Amino acid sequence: MIDQAASLRELVSTRSADRCRGQSAQVQGAAYTLAVTSGKGGVGKTSLAVNLSLLLARKKRKIWFMDADFGLANAEVLLGVTPPFNVMHVLRGEVDLASAWLDVAEGVKLLSSGSGLEDVANIDGCRAAYLIRSVKCLSGPDDIVLADTGPGIDDPVMSILTAADEVMVVTTPEPTALTDSYATMKVLFSQRPESDVTLVINCCESPSQAESLAKAISNVCQKFLGRSFQRYEYLPVDNSLARAIQAQKPLVMGSYRSRLEPWLWKLANGIERRMKDRHSALAFREAGLRVGHWSEAAAARSF
Ligand SMILES: Nc1ncnc2c1ncn2[C@@H]1O[C@H](COP(=O)(O)OP(=O)(O)OP(=O)(O)O)[C@@H](O)[C@H]1O
Ligand SMILES: [Mg+2]
Repeated sequence: MIDQAASLRELVSTRSADRCRGQSAQVQGAAYTLAVTSGKGGVGKTSLAVNLSLLLARKKRKIWFMDADFGLANAEVLLGVTPPFNVMHVLRGEVDLASAWLDVAEGVKLLSSGSGLEDVANIDGCRAAYLIRSVKCLSGPDDIVLADTGPGIDDPVMSILTAADEVMVVTTPEPTALTDSYATMKVLFSQRPESDVTLVINCCESPSQAESLAKAISNVCQKFLGRSFQRYEYLPVDNSLARAIQAQKPLVMGSYRSRLEPWLWKLANGIERRMKDRHSALAFREAGLRVGHWSEAAAARSF
């Protein structure tokens, strides 16, 4: 078996950040990679990521939930589990990457980022890029890698975002959160212009409030960045989320009569649709290449 920990350590010791930038490129035939992020902290990323992962698993997807809030792992708290290993064990070579995951629910595996670990908290963009690429290499084409990042625009966060097929930028209607979500998109588009972004407006009063906020941000993005997010989603305030966190039992696993759950299903269905579209596009491209190859060979034979 490939010693992924050794290659991670080797990478950390020998490669420069610039050379690592290429590490975040897409991995052929790997899982659909979804990164959940935000500019401002505390806007609901982890709650969204955890519940989404459970809903997507109910659609028979295998989910590789990577807690990418390095050193401040929260997903395990929401799930009420205690993973025996975390990213630090992988980086130290104490466990290989494939064995560091904990099955937290049917179809959902969790890689913890550890809590209060200085070395993990100081992980650089290069290591984060290599880590997510290695996770993508473990997964299959029908799987989903779901990375829950910390807030902000530092290097490790951007390494995760630029490696993703889809980035969910979570915000609330607060002006500070909206401004920071614009800042996240600005940096993301400057590093990877073709990024596919879903803006998630959480704790929103109504779908119409979400619509007018999305229009306003999109206008600013178009004006100053020349591009914008591909779609937006609305999520309402739901007080049962606080009870779910207190009970360490995710909303969609309990009987909370949640008003959020139907909207979470809408998000999950959208992701599923985009995955299928990506599959069809890849299959079409491969078929095209095969036909192209065959015709070229046939043409060569006819000379
Ligand atoms: N739709 C919602 N309705 C009500 N409360 C919510 C909603 N979404 C999130 N919250 C609350 O917001 C708080 C922060 O949530 P969460 O930890 O998921 O945010 P986060 O963005 O992951 O934070 P951090 O930036 O620290 O990682 C929690 O107390 C959660 O209950
Ligand atoms: Mg979080």
